[in-house]
Amino acid sequence: MRKDPFPVDTLISEEDICNLSRERKFISKEIQLGHKVLVFGKRNTGKTSLVKNVIAAQWQKKEKKAIVFYVDLYGVKNITQVTARVANAYSWALKRNQPLKGIGSTIVDVLKSFRPVMKIEADGTPTLSLDLDAKRPEHSLYELFSKFNNLYEKDVSILIVIDEFQEIHGIDECEGIFRDTLQNLNPNIPVIIMGSKKHLLSLMFTEPKAAFFSWGQHVEFSVIDYKEYYEYLKDRFNEVKLSLSYEDSIVIQDLMLRNPEAINRICSWIFSNPPSNKRIDSTYIHFALGELVEGRRSAMEEYLKQFTPAEDRVMAIFAKEGGVIKQPMKKDFLKAADVSVSGMKGIVIKLENDAVLYKEKEGYVFADALLKQHLVKFR
Ligand SMILES: Nc1ncnc2c1ncn2[C@@H]1O[C@H](COP(=O)(O)OP(=O)(O)OP(=O)(O)O)[C@@H](O)[C@H]1O
Ligand SMILES: [Mg+2]
Repeated sequence: MRKDPFPVDTLISEEDICNLSRERKFISKEIQLGHKVLVFGKRNTGKTSLVKNVIAAQWQKKEKKAIVFYVDLYGVKNITQVTARVANAYSWALKRNQPLKGIGSTIVDVLKSFRPVMKIEADGTPTLSLDLDAKRPEHSLYELFSKFNNLYEKDVSILIVIDEFQEIHGIDECEGIFRDTLQNLNPNIPVIIMGSKKHLLSLMFTEPKAAFFSWGQHVEFSVIDYKEYYEYLKDRFNEVKLSLSYEDSIVIQDLMLRNPEAINRICSWIFSNPPSNKRIDSTYIHFALGELVEGRRSAMEEYLKQFTPAEDRVMAIFAKEGGVIKQPMKKDFLKAADVSVSGMKGIVIKLENDAVLYKEKEGYVFADALLKQHLVKFR
């Protein structure tokens, strides 16, 4: 049986990435020059896959002695958790890049301030992670970053990648500490910062008083061109003798709000349940969407449990509105959702912070096409 060519729930490899060649060329060139880059874009647009699996991997191949340091800050709530993530990422990076002669003592040095902790995962596998001296987490963070300079002085090339960076926004002192540590890095060390919540990143990087004002080159991952996506989808379906017209590929792209992960989900469903006449037309696409939404019903309800009844009502009203929500504070919405003006304001902020909604020039849009369809169908 043929492997599903529409992977989801995973970082994807180079051959599965549709387009992004402009972003790839630009970021690769910048890090080669030792520059700093801020990569941002909506959720599930391929940022981590491209940077980690393609750009960083190729950069490392070109360098003689090289370390890629990758840390994901998703969900961190305080500076202790931030430092623990950085420490674990540090030990992971060094482990993966052995043997790098002559840096052994540096590693031992930095790891001395951490206590190894053995954990047993749900599936029974033991894993070793590092716990840090909780009394001085920021000190450990400075120490870890200063070791990058030591490594660099020993002719080790380093690429630092910090993912979901917006998560530190609002954590006491954290932005200041990162600003300081990044400023004290050797200026030749390239750094890529990534994030998926544009409004928070803009508070951190573009407001005049922001901690990272004028830091690095900014690269936005925006929607992929309709035609490029059509070629990608058509080729993959053609391999199993399924046909898709350009117009029908637009039906898929628009229904999925042009989000690559959502597009992969519906295409994966069609790939596993091909139409008997081998033609993927608009009727079959709508049928597939219905089945997909039905199949994900309980998982979606589970996800929705984190929201209050009022938030749930607002999401449902917005979903049924169709396209862009131009005026979320409209009287009709307030009445239908049974919320006050200030209540609605708070809900919209929460939905934006949780990346349920994105604010675009014209108004608010849903991030997740399948969540939107779920609300339309089941509320
Ligand atoms: N350019 C693309 N071509 C094909 N599939 C893509 C592309 N970009 C994203 N995807 C799909 O999105 C999923 C998530 O990709 P990835 O984690 O790299 O995105 P991300 O932008 O880092 O997301 P997040 O903001 O949630 O971290 C992949 O498993 C794949 O299904
Ligand atoms: Mg990511």
